[in-house]
Amino acid sequence: MAGEGSAWLAGLEERAAAVLAPEVRDYVALGSGRMVTLREAEAAWRIPRLAPHVLRDTTTVDLSVDLLGTRAAVPWHVAPISLLRAVHPDGDLAVARATAAAGAVMTVSSNTGTGFAQIGATGVRWWLQVYLPADRTLAGPLLDRAVEAGAEAVVLTVDTPVVASRESGGPTVWDVVDPALVGVNFDPGYDTRTAAAKALDLGPHDLDWLAARTGLPVVVKGVLRPDDARRCVQAGAAAVWVSNHGGRQLDRAVATASCLPAVVDAVAGDAQVYVDGGLRRGLDVLTALALGADAVFLGRPVPWALAEGEPGVSRLHAELRTELTEALRLAGCRGVADTRGLIAPVPPTPR
Ligand SMILES: Cc1cc2nc3c(=O)[nH]c(=O)nc-3n(C[C@H](O)[C@H](O)[C@H](O)COP(=O)(O)O)c2cc1C
Repeated sequence: MAGEGSAWLAGLEERAAAVLAPEVRDYVALGSGRMVTLREAEAAWRIPRLAPHVLRDTTTVDLSVDLLGTRAAVPWHVAPISLLRAVHPDGDLAVARATAAAGAVMTVSSNTGTGFAQIGATGVRWWLQVYLPADRTLAGPLLDRAVEAGAEAVVLTVDTPVVASRESGGPTVWDVVDPALVGVNFDPGYDTRTAAAKALDLGPHDLDWLAARTGLPVVVKGVLRPDDARRCVQAGAAAVWVSNHGGRQLDRAVATASCLPAVVDAVAGDAQVYVDGGLRRGLDVLTALALGADAVFLGRPVPWALAEGEPGVSRLHAELRTELTEALRLAGCRGVADTRGLIAPVPPTPR
């Protein structure tokens, strides 16, 4: 029914908030500091204006994109989210199955509570997300397990030298979550070792090390500046992922919608460019593609949908497909490549 899909997506966060334990709800929903960055994320996608094409045949609309050299059926994919098993007992496996069926790629958090082999066995195309520890060699066993289980790329998160503080009183998710649901792919005792603290000295050489250690393409997640994007490309990154960690790291960091175009320009086609942060609807995806992203990643919508189990995640993919297809037709685009040049060269009309 027309409009129903929109209503389902619009109510996603509220429905999840009603069923999740308060500590889990807050872990997913909130951000760091005063949450300035978190609050700006969604609205930033609504600032650019689109100049649609007309008189174009959009009978057939192709949503597929190239992702690290392989075709993916849709341009939205799943960002790494830890603690999915605290959201729903089926956790990562439900997300993996629904995401595989949608033809999207799942990025798996290194802290996940599900074995990589089990995730790989669902048939989903998946990438491993990692933080590197001060002693890089401690990451070796985790990387080996991921390669063994079929990870197709390794995503190095670079915006988390330390975990940013949150201004929350009361119990947090860490007071309620079963420790057995976290970090099951590390060697036993990994987190307790001092050297396993996150590296404060990450540098371009770490990209080389990761590529050599895994034999996989390296994606750098958490880039907001064109100069850093260029350094990533020069260091051999296969893709640069524009992200402020969903407003969970440096508060007052710039909205990803605002800095995406400059990063796209700086990368100049020498690597792929992805983006996440505040993408919720088909029109947000269209805007990100029009601004030059090769693909987008969804963070919070995934655990919110997972609160409704695997059917919820399947429906998230289905609703996005419906919304993006409609948006592409309205914009006169037959596919993702046609979205380039859609951004109107005029500022939005003041309200
Ligand atoms: C509950 C939660 C857990 C996350 N866990 C990770 C993680 O383990 N590794 C990582 O690189 N990013 C993590 N992120 C950040 C996401 O990958 C992504 O960058 C962000 O959520 C995108 O913004 P959005 O939530 O507005 O879509 C997490 C985000 C949330 C909300």
